[in-house]
Amino acid sequence: MRSFQRFLFSLPVWALLLTGPAHALDIAVDFKKAKPISPDLLGIFFEDISYAADGGLYAELIQNRSFEYDLTEQPDWNALSYWKFFRSEGSVGKIQVDRSVPVHPNNTHYITLECSEPGNAGVGISNTGFDGIVVKQGEIYDVSFFSRQLWTNRRWNGPADVENHPMPVTVRLESQDGKHLGETKFEVRGREWKKIEGTLTATGSDPNARFALLINGRGCISLDEISLFPRKTFKNRRNGLRPDLAQAIADLHPRFVRFPGGCVAHGNGLPNIYHWKNTVGPIEQRKQMPNLWRYHQTMGLGYFEYFQFCEDLGAHPLPVVAAGVSCQHSGYTENHGQCAIPMEQMDAYVQDILDLIEWANGPATSRWGAVRVAAGHPEPFHLKYIGVGNEDRITPEFEQRFKMIHDAIRKAHPEIVVIGNSGPLSDGEDFEKGWELVREQKVSMVDEHYYKSPDWFWKNLRRYDTYDRKSASVYLGEYAAHDKGRRSTLRSALAEAAHLTALERNGDIVTFASYAPLLAKRGYTRWSPDLIYFTNTGIELTVNYHVQKLFGQNAGDTYLETTPAVHGTPADFAASTVLNSRSGEVVLKFVNNAATEKKLNISLNGADQLPSQAEVTVLADPDPDAVNEGSNAKPVLPRTSKLNVRQTFTYSAPANSLTVIRIPSK
Ligand code: AHR
Repeated sequence: MRSFQRFLFSLPVWALLLTGPAHALDIAVDFKKAKPISPDLLGIFFEDISYAADGGLYAELIQNRSFEYDLTEQPDWNALSYWKFFRSEGSVGKIQVDRSVPVHPNNTHYITLECSEPGNAGVGISNTGFDGIVVKQGEIYDVSFFSRQLWTNRRWNGPADVENHPMPVTVRLESQDGKHLGETKFEVRGREWKKIEGTLTATGSDPNARFALLINGRGCISLDEISLFPRKTFKNRRNGLRPDLAQAIADLHPRFVRFPGGCVAHGNGLPNIYHWKNTVGPIEQRKQMPNLWRYHQTMGLGYFEYFQFCEDLGAHPLPVVAAGVSCQHSGYTENHGQCAIPMEQMDAYVQDILDLIEWANGPATSRWGAVRVAAGHPEPFHLKYIGVGNEDRITPEFEQRFKMIHDAIRKAHPEIVVIGNSGPLSDGEDFEKGWELVREQKVSMVDEHYYKSPDWFWKNLRRYDTYDRKSASVYLGEYAAHDKGRRSTLRSALAEAAHLTALERNGDIVTFASYAPLLAKRGYTRWSPDLIYFTNTGIELTVNYHVQKLFGQNAGDTYLETTPAVHGTPADFAASTVLNSRSGEVVLKFVNNAATEKKLNISLNGADQLPSQAEVTVLADPDPDAVNEGSNAKPVLPRTSKLNVRQTFTYSAPANSLTVIRIPSK
């Protein structure tokens, strides 16, 4: 007996159990067993939840810019929320909220400012934005507002001729302690509403600044849609997006963008259903609405901006329209609040959906194509997918309306893929009924949603292995692993990573998947966990974000059989391999959920030629409870190095880790 064996036999059994000789796991990747998978598997789910749009991705810096805030949204809100009326020294003036002559019937409230004695600098209003306005020295800001003159001088004894007596207006940025950070001047002239635009350059910085607008002469003007935008937006778009947040999204390499939700799509009761037509055209004409997550949607980020963002990302637009019913939690009545659009209004509703397709793809000569062209987009948006319904209860009312919409789209636009839905859960009555309807109607794709524990994800890695390949394909539209306290732990991120290996393996039947929700503002989080948290000045990328990014940046269009794909009882290891047939790169992914490292003997069977070096990226931490929150000193971040690879090679997957090995083409 050799000395090592003698040593092993001399150990008591308990010592062997504790120290146990670590068995290497054999992983075989078979290059000859390849199947095509969805090249567009990973995308994003965007919903205006937790201030994701207004106050978040949408770069507008003024809050309540058109005086439409309302007490039905927040008990202490009204048309003047986030605004403050002020008078400079020695001045006399008034403010009032008006509705009688709006800029547009969709934009009902505006304010009227009167100054009867300008004193030092006139009277004005200030706005603190969404918890302060971030002003950076040297940056350019676009200012715009709508205004009209009501009278000039003193009401009853001034000249009637406003055209020759314009109202001088000063717009400026101010620091918290009142220091001026940049100023620009305008004139309001005439009785008709006009858009007034200009820029100002910040002369100082303050992350918590305010905006002020003053009228400096005697007279009275009305004001609406007062806007302040940083010139720097994502891809320098006007009415654009916050660049750091948009870039973090772009870094995920999303292949599609689902919008506008989520529950926002089907809304809190019929009046709150999201209608795309209300969200296109000039921003002052868009119809704003309460957000069912209990705040306000300006619709400044509307369908045009969503489609444009998709184009900027190189992603498919995936709009979700209500299936003729509102959310079952409408009126916040758990499961029973679903309201259905009356049948006599359904034809018009169906037509709205057909118009959306025409707006997105139609030529300039079509009615709705012309609206897109007028907005500055002559090329079609190449819309290919439409979600109909969002995790609805599958009631007879739903079924009837879904069929109407599905039939109409199929008839008028057979080129469009309609995505049906299967209720809010991974199984159960609505799930079964939803799938039944989809099979009966021969719907091409089904939206599944589930938020479950990390354990559930590990136990369900085989979920799609047995799905009928001849039936509808799956869009996993919302999912996330919900760990203790609904925090974005490494444990939850690894459960999602393992699930993503299973989705890649089943990429022949799973076409799309999107983690949900995407964005949440600290202090306004209405749902946890989220992929990206942000404040006005920074963003926090969760461990889960890095998982999505690693999969998004290392996606393929072909799956190479990887054995074992799932290992352990209970499963604590998952693997997948994809090939990007365009670049020739092969990517292996391993998820080790165990508290110890796992030695792997990897064979790449049938690989013709291999380069000697691959790139290996590891996301790991000894603590599965690790999170990337706030000022966490040691965030869990991916680390990349080189690895020598051959036909067979060994690799040690660290405890609690995701490993991505990217082998370039030779
Ligand atoms: O993702 C958050 C919410 O979860 C979505 O709005 C809804 O569809 C689901 O219940």
